[in-house]
Amino acid sequence: MEIAIEVKELTKNYGEIIAVNHINFEVRKGEIFGFLGPNGAGKTTTIRMLTGLSRPTTGTARVLGFNVESEIVKAKKYMGVVPEASNLYDELSAFAICCLWRSYTGFLVINAKQGWKSF
Ligand SMILES: Nc1ncnc2c1ncn2[C@@H]1O[C@H](COP(=O)(O)OP(=O)(O)OP(=O)(O)O)[C@@H](O)[C@H]1O
Ligand SMILES: [Mg+2]
Repeated sequence: MEIAIEVKELTKNYGEIIAVNHINFEVRKGEIFGFLGPNGAGKTTTIRMLTGLSRPTTGTARVLGFNVESEIVKAKKYMGVVPEASNLYDELSAFAICCLWRSYTGFLVINAKQGWKSF
């Protein structure tokens, strides 16, 4: 079966702190995968690396075959993340927030009269 997420020896250091220590795993397409661990285990740091918010110190990760460092823009077109804390800006309208996110990804268009479109 096709591999959706492939992580090899992924590591993230913050100075002396080893946040993620040479982890390896694969998630197959269509698989429901639970990513669990105690506080401080490195879950958020790993997700941040997979979504391009943080660069790995060493190791590699691919999402749908795209390298999360060199091909992150392509990878992000196929990713959706529900963060534990809201990423919304209180001072912006819902429409403005959607337009802002579209400007990041380039694949979502919102037309207030015609509804949602994507390309
Ligand atoms: N920006 C940072 N600078 C320094 N250390 C960090 C940073 N981000 C995370 N860490 C450290 O890296 C380790 C892993 O943190 P991370 O937030 O990834 O864990 P977690 O598994 O998501 O924890 P939790 O279950 O509490 O959300 C912790 O020791 C944390 O203090
Ligand atoms: Mg966390």
